[in-house]
Amino acid sequence: MSDTSPTPFDLVGGKPAVDAIVGRFYDLIESDPDYAGLRAVHGPDLGPVREGLASYITGWLGGPRDWFETPGKGCIMSLHNGFAITTDIAGQWINAMIRAIAAEPGLDEHLGSQMAEALGRMAHGMINRTEAA
Ligand code: HEM
Repeated sequence: MSDTSPTPFDLVGGKPAVDAIVGRFYDLIESDPDYAGLRAVHGPDLGPVREGLASYITGWLGGPRDWFETPGKGCIMSLHNGFAITTDIAGQWINAMIRAIAAEPGLDEHLGSQMAEALGRMAHGMINRTEAA
């Protein structure tokens, strides 16, 4: 018998909800000048990172673990060591993610804030540069 209790991935709304949140997150980053600094850290094509982040969040929420089982992925914190992440840039990431989650129709507000807070703590932990002078 398998354990049938719902995972956070199920409670959030599964793949359609995760894909919609991540899609909205990068759409905001591409369209809102408030995120110009964050956009500039990324490469010209956001397609691969859209897929990567959706796959990561899926596994992180207890859904299919494809991202975590892909060789070379492993630690999300180490993968970000090479990007210059200041407090300001991490703040842009967190702000866009809060908005992307809050705009998801039907998502329980408490679950949404817990998700945003946990992702925000990760983003905060990725800060590896002091602000440019
Ligand atoms: C703190 C601010 C953050 C910045 C500035 C940032 C920046 C980046 C950049 C530059 C890339 C490479 C994509 C490209 O070059 O276009 C990337 C990839 C990625 N980021 Fe972040 N990131 C941040 C926070 C996070 C957080 C909190 C998570 C996890 C919840 C995350 C998950 C990912 C994933 C899954 C990938 C794709 C990696 C792969 O699949 O190989 N990022 N990020």
